[in-house]
Order: sequence, then C-alpha cells, then structure tokens
Amino acid sequence: MNVNRRHLLTGTVGAAAVALTASACASEDGDSGSSGKKVGIAMPTKTSERWIADGDNLKASFEDQGYEVTLQYANDVAADQVSQIETMVGQGVNVLVIAAIDNKSLNGVLAQAKEADVTVIAYDRLILDTPDVDYYTSFDNTKVGTLQGTYIVEKLGLAAGEAGPFNIELFAGALTDNNTKYFFNGAMEVLQPYIDGGQLVVLSGQTALEQVATENWDGAVAQDRMETILTSFYTGGQQVQAVLAPYDGISRGIIAALDGQGYTTMPVVTGQDAEVDSVKYIIDGKQAMTVYKDTRELASVTVDMVVAVLDDKDPEINDDTTYDNGDHVVPAYLLEPVSVDVTNYQAELIDSGYIDEADLA
Ligand code: BGC
Repeated sequence: MNVNRRHLLTGTVGAAAVALTASACASEDGDSGSSGKKVGIAMPTKTSERWIADGDNLKASFEDQGYEVTLQYANDVAADQVSQIETMVGQGVNVLVIAAIDNKSLNGVLAQAKEADVTVIAYDRLILDTPDVDYYTSFDNTKVGTLQGTYIVEKLGLAAGEAGPFNIELFAGALTDNNTKYFFNGAMEVLQPYIDGGQLVVLSGQTALEQVATENWDGAVAQDRMETILTSFYTGGQQVQAVLAPYDGISRGIIAALDGQGYTTMPVVTGQDAEVDSVKYIIDGKQAMTVYKDTRELASVTVDMVVAVLDDKDPEINDDTTYDNGDHVVPAYLLEPVSVDVTNYQAELIDSGYIDEADLA
C-alpha cells in the first residue's frame, strides 16, 4: 500500500526503478556504498509524537542499510539544533537529515557541512536561504491546508450552498517553520471566498498569518489565544462554529479552551498528524478531523534517496518546481496527505498499522 501510494505521485517511473534497485542491492549485500557511512539525524522536538516516530523510523531504516546513525532532538531550541549539527559534522557524518526548528538559522552550519562534502536532506521542513541543501522530502504541504479548509466548508454545508453566517477562528503554526505558510495559504484558498462572501465570519478580526501563528507550534500558546478570543469577542452569546487548526497539539489546546468556556458541542476543529490523543478526540466527537501523513513512508523515501545519492545514482524525485528555498529550487519527493475523520480512521490508521487499536482504548 505504501508503494502504491508513492507511485501515484511519481512521474518518473524510470528513476523510481533505479532508486528502488539501489536500495534493494544495499539491503542484500549490506555494503553497497553504505559500509562505514555515517548519517546524522537532527529532529526538532520530542513534544510531538510524529517526530519521535520519524526519528525512530529513520534510525532503524538507516541501520538496516548498514549506516551508523546519530539521532538528536533539540527541544524546539534552534541554537541547540545548530550545535548538534555542528557536532555531527565534526564527527564526520556523510549525510545530514534535518527537520529544522528555524528554517533560517542553519546557513552557517550547513556551509561547514558542505566544506566537509556532506549531503544535506531537508526532512519535511525546507531549509531556506542557503545553497547547501541538496534535497527535500516531505508531503504536499499546500494540500494539507486545502484538506483542512475543504473539511470545514463541507461540514458546515457551505459547499452545498448553506448561507450561514458561521463564526470561524483561524490558527497557524510557527513562523520559523517553512511549512506554516503552505498549510495556511492552502486552507485560506478554500476559506477566503466564504469570508469575502460573508458566509464565514472571523469575529476576532485576526486573519493575517502573523496574527494567527503559534510560537513553537505550542498547544498551550494556542489555548491561551483561544481563551482570549472567546472572552474578548464572544461575550454576547455568539458561538464559534469552526476553528482552523494546523496541528493536533494545537487542536487539543483549542478544544481545552472551548471546554473551559462551557462548550458541550464542539465546533468543527481541524488538525494534522493523526496523533493518538486526537484520534481519540475524533472518535469522541471533540475534534472533527486530522490530516494523516504516513511518516513511515517519509522515512522510507528519505532512506532510498540517501542510498541512491551515496551510490552516485540519481535519487527518485517527483517535484522540481515547487520548493524554492530563496537560493535554488530544491529537488523534492513529496507524498500525499490524507484527510481522516470518524468515518475512515479505522481503514487509514488502524488497518494500515499506523496506530495500534489498543492505544485508542
Ligand atoms: C510538520 C507537521 C507538524 C508540525 C508541528 C510541521 O513542519 O509538517 O506535520 O504538525 O511541523 O510539529
């Protein structure tokens, strides 16, 4: 199933075959260019399940291929991530796989990496304003946002002609993360026409990305902002009918604020990452949806890419136009995100083995 989904997006079947062959060889003889090779993996934080899974999956897959792996988390502190990467370069890694905390803080350390001939992969989050990032692996980040916006529009009946008006509040992720604007713009492409038409109303008036962003993607920060919005703009008995939330941790913060204000029926609250606690909320009707991104697949395409590059082969790429990092368009492999709610979580998350059903009890 993973393979099928990957190939739905693949325009370059020839390149795919080359990359798959490269990784197959490496796993058979264990030393197709990989013996003695070192990979440094820099992940942003352990406060969110997905990055723990990403780190674990990447480490296990690289080790299967015979690589020596260093895996580090930087607790959302950009400067700490820079020093972790510096240390990895000093240790002589051949490859860096980096999910950046601050997309603009890495230029200096990546210049050092390039001096040392290290291959640099931006993992899920693009690194900006540097010539020294070679490849990008991620999901279709605009589509993450359109799935969230579309879910709101369909759930409220707007797509079918409901006039509303419905009250909506908007949340986005961290401004230091390049994905944030893709998610937000993708959602606003769908929502803006209804805001302009008056069917959706943002009572707080906060619609600019800078106003709705959430530092460090922190759920507690989002909870505070939602509380302030509710106690400042919803004082005359108005109800919130929808909340655009970009990530499950933020969604749960928002739901806590709504709970605190006595909401018994929740508005349509979106999310992302299919975290266990949010899937429980989806089953209980507290959170409406999440966007599921199979991080197992992301790890697998990343490892295939590294194996190909270190074998002097062309890695499998399916996008060479979308992700300009301010210096160059970074060749990318993008996977498909999937909208998940109470109607399909079983098929998408449990049957696929992404979440263990026992964890939802
Ligand atoms: C990732 C999301 C994640 C968010 C917060 C983004 O860069 O693409 O999957 O929800 O960071 O960790």
